Amino acid sequence: MAGQKTSRINGQHNSRKVTDLSDKGDMISDGSSQVLMNLIKQRRSIRRFTGRKIDRNDVLSIVEAGTWAPTGCNNQELRFLILQQDNELNQVLKFKPFLRGVSTVILIFCDMSLPMSNKMYRQYKHERHLPYVDTGLALAHMVLYAKSKGIDSCIFNLSNYHLRRSEQKSIIEKRLYKLKKRLNLHALMENSFVYYLRNCLKIPNHLEIMCGLALGFAEEHPDIHTAKHGGRKIMREVVSHYIVPR
Ligand SMILES: Cc1cc2nc3c(=O)[nH]c(=O)nc-3n(C[C@H](O)[C@H](O)[C@H](O)COP(=O)(O)O)c2cc1C
Repeated sequence: MAGQKTSRINGQHNSRKVTDLSDKGDMISDGSSQVLMNLIKQRRSIRRFTGRKIDRNDVLSIVEAGTWAPTGCNNQELRFLILQQDNELNQVLKFKPFLRGVSTVILIFCDMSLPMSNKMYRQYKHERHLPYVDTGLALAHMVLYAKSKGIDSCIFNLSNYHLRRSEQKSIIEKRLYKLKKRLNLHALMENSFVYYLRNCLKIPNHLEIMCGLALGFAEEHPDIHTAKHGGRKIMREVVSHYIVPR
């Protein structure tokens, strides 16, 4: 990866210093489980943000929360790219136009250059889901930690195959897209996300995009009782609904 971009992705496997934590877990006080449950219940996916900027240190601490999530075989293969400049955010918005007013986007990648990644996710096809599970866990940590700091979020699906909406217009373009998709030539398509990653952001091939996270401050907070997404209610059922009876 070229110059400046290299420093923006944590590509190192440094051992961590755990100086600020007790090894007996005694920092968990009685009230904190209820605080955590409230955070879990209060977090909503926000799709309209105020545009207010987030302090870089807050963003770094959110990424740190993500890095403390468990990973399969302790592979620690996730890499985080922080986008905060307007031109970068505007480019992402072309792929995900509903994220109005977003002030930070974090793209999560899987580092396929690690020997374990290559073995588990490429050679052993039955382990392919692990980086996605790891990404989900990291995201869960991140959105909850962000919420604890008053920062709102929306996880959004992003893959190599996403196209800039504005440029997905003509029938010929659509047909060409389908053909290229069939031939798996997305990296050559100027309106595809992978093209943007590799050519504009200079992300190297061994980093595979997993997911995106939008951060900002909510313009409006959806009401859990009435909010819908994709025509479906956001509201959760009572816990017994989710338990498989035996
Ligand atoms: C893996 C994943 C991908 C998602 N992708 C999108 C997306 O592309 N666009 C979007 O508007 N919301 C996306 N969401 C947010 C969900 O729609 C949202 O979590 C769901 O509607 C429940 O709402 P809540 O997060 O407010 O509880 C995604 C969530 C997850 C976990």
